[in-house]
Amino acid sequence: MESLIIQGGNRLKGTIPISGAKNAALPIMAASILCEGETILRNVPDLRDVRQMCTLLNRLGVKVERDETGAMHLRAEDEMNCHAEYELVSKMRASICVLGPLLAKRRKAQISMPGGCSIGDRPVRLHIKGLEALGGDADLVTGDIVMKAKKLRGAEIFLGGAFGSTVTGTANVLMAATLAEGRTIIESAACEPEIVDLAEFLNKCGARIEGHGTPRIVIEGVASLHGAEHSVIPDRIEAGTYIIAAAVTNGELTLKDCRLEHLVAFIDTLRKVGLNIEKSDKGVSVSSSRRLDPTEITTQPYPGFPTDLQAQTMVLLSLADGNSIVTEKVFPDRFLHVAELNRMGTRLRKEGPTVIVQGVKKLIGAPVMASDLRASAALVLAGLISKGQTRVQRMYHLDRGYEKMELKLKAVGADISRVTDE
Ligand code: EPZ
Repeated sequence: MESLIIQGGNRLKGTIPISGAKNAALPIMAASILCEGETILRNVPDLRDVRQMCTLLNRLGVKVERDETGAMHLRAEDEMNCHAEYELVSKMRASICVLGPLLAKRRKAQISMPGGCSIGDRPVRLHIKGLEALGGDADLVTGDIVMKAKKLRGAEIFLGGAFGSTVTGTANVLMAATLAEGRTIIESAACEPEIVDLAEFLNKCGARIEGHGTPRIVIEGVASLHGAEHSVIPDRIEAGTYIIAAAVTNGELTLKDCRLEHLVAFIDTLRKVGLNIEKSDKGVSVSSSRRLDPTEITTQPYPGFPTDLQAQTMVLLSLADGNSIVTEKVFPDRFLHVAELNRMGTRLRKEGPTVIVQGVKKLIGAPVMASDLRASAALVLAGLISKGQTRVQRMYHLDRGYEKMELKLKAVGADISRVTDE
């Protein structure tokens, strides 16, 4: 196992390049199952989850290779195996994104039910509801979702759930509908930029999708899709994480390839608490010149405040001049970072889906345990500003979604290194 060792107290100064978006790359890679011929994807980040998806696609008969420029070439060659097994799916929930493409292209799919994870229950009922509406027959057999379909036909589908829409559920239904006969309307579709990027890729492959980015997506089915060339959008959650790194260290960072239009609610909150965030031709510059004000945030589906930046923002608010309130409406249990952060001197009190964040003057370094991808990032941010040394254990969580994090931070002045635990 590996850990990050951080000596806190350095101001960050310089430029950080933002990598391609994990949550766009994963469904777009899965969509290659739908295509006849080769697809070339650029700006695909080198992450554990991406490598996991490559392994899964290989098992499903899709050849995946990176060329010397880093571009990823995908070609579905063998349609025999349609079974995504537990040992793969249990490592990465996004494996569920192969369900829609397999059903649409090969008329059958067997996917291990993704288990829960550290941010709480991860149901897939809405995914199955949408695919059944298109004509799929679903069964649960020894922990696997088994789906078959003679033919997929367009349908009107409502994908809203108790916690808003479903991002990967929208991706699954959208991908399957591209090859269904007739028109499909998805109501209460997810509006995330990653869904827009997936739809743009599918339209390059010959799909006929409109309304992506709004809660109502209309898809006219086509007979087949060809491969296409596509560059994945930048990762807005990675960008948001480094914006907070600049803020908490009172630093000055320029983020290359950061799209502020994908982070409107988040940026609005940061400006409200006193951060200077400006777009320039070099990228997005972030600086903070004073103690920040407290505020209240509630996570919502896009375009609301992103749940994937909740843990990181909690670190920022821990240093504000007063008490803040953080309410998690997407994954109400997504607070595993609270106990670990309190070991570093934050004053966080959980009351159901809400955490009261009491502003403190300083944090103290400590050995802490990563739990989920974004909670791990929050612990690194806390380490950057803590007095003394912080050791963040179980780095594999971080490697799932952040490309070369310690190298990017070291390049702008952080005292950080990766070690192998004895
Ligand atoms: C995607 O997960 C992201 N993952 C998550 O990012 C992100 O936190 C989440 O969307 C919300 O934005 C990928 O895109 C690979 P959901 P997803 O289905 O699609 C409930 C990260 O850190 N729900 O939109 O699995 C569900 O319980 C990861 O990169 C149902 O009730 O999330 C949750 O409360 C973590 N029934 C809410 O909807 C369903 O059938 C949103 O879940 C499906 C979901």
